[in-house]
Amino acid sequence: MAGRLDGKAALVTGAGSGIGRATAQRFAEEGAHVVACDLRPKTAQETAALIGGDALGLGVDVTDRASIRAVVEATVERFGGLDVLVCNAGVTIVGSVMDLTEDQWDTELDTNLKSVFLCAKEAWDHLAARGGGSILSTASMAGQWAIPADAAYCASKAGLIMLTKCMALDGAKQNIRANCVCPGFTNTPMIDGYFDAQDDPDASRRFAIGLHPLGRMGEPLDHANAFVYLASDEASWVTGLELNVDGGITCGIWGG
Ligand SMILES: NC(=O)c1ccc[n+]([C@@H]2O[C@H](COP(=O)([O-])OP(=O)(O)OC[C@H]3O[C@@H](n4cnc5c(N)ncnc54)[C@H](O)[C@@H]3O)[C@@H](O)[C@H]2O)c1
Repeated sequence: MAGRLDGKAALVTGAGSGIGRATAQRFAEEGAHVVACDLRPKTAQETAALIGGDALGLGVDVTDRASIRAVVEATVERFGGLDVLVCNAGVTIVGSVMDLTEDQWDTELDTNLKSVFLCAKEAWDHLAARGGGSILSTASMAGQWAIPADAAYCASKAGLIMLTKCMALDGAKQNIRANCVCPGFTNTPMIDGYFDAQDDPDASRRFAIGLHPLGRMGEPLDHANAFVYLASDEASWVTGLELNVDGGITCGIWGG
């Protein structure tokens, strides 16, 4: 049976862990040629080894334009072009405006927002050269709903949702589609770190689970499946979308 992403060349950032790793794996299962990239090269190589076949695992720092250019060029060299860019790498540094240092603010915004601008800049002409392509990113329900003591993260993800819509408009004439997935709380090392930073991590986790009407936290695969759809030709008329994959957390006030 044909895969939903047969023959597409895809670059996934933050692919050494969590949502990025699951996305890289699902893309390969659907027939994509995958370059898995991460700040920690070893984890990217592990992802590529899990996928097998022609997958490539590379180090990248998405805050550094030269580093991004290198992995984009490596993708084009290996697979003859680029069809799908998944900007998934991210960090979370908890704190209110009064708690956060300027350096922490810059790190959060550079990693979660400016990085997508830089990745898209480096990928754009390659996507256009294929007659169009897809720029995907991992935003968050935190870009739609404010979370206490998470100011920089929420601001970065809100900016990312708007950047997605801007890229959708600017890319339309070249058939470059831009969409983002907005996860609710999802079981990954990042969310473990978020809970660990709270006064009572167990209570905080229970509280978070209870916020989701569907009664559980998300799994990386929930988002990987959404990315498969958005990257595929099934979504050829979908652009500028913020796709909530969040167990219903953003539907409204949920009393449990
Ligand atoms: N887990 C959640 O609850 C949740 C909810 C909403 C959104 N998200 C978003 O999902 C995305 C993936 O996060 P995850 O939950 O899978 O976390 P994760 O920590 O498991 O994975 C994030 C990956 O990004 C990599 N990374 C960090 N900085 C980087 C950099 N400068 N360059 C390249 N790679 C870098 C890390 O090494 C790590 O492998 C993030 O953008 C995050 O903000 C997560």
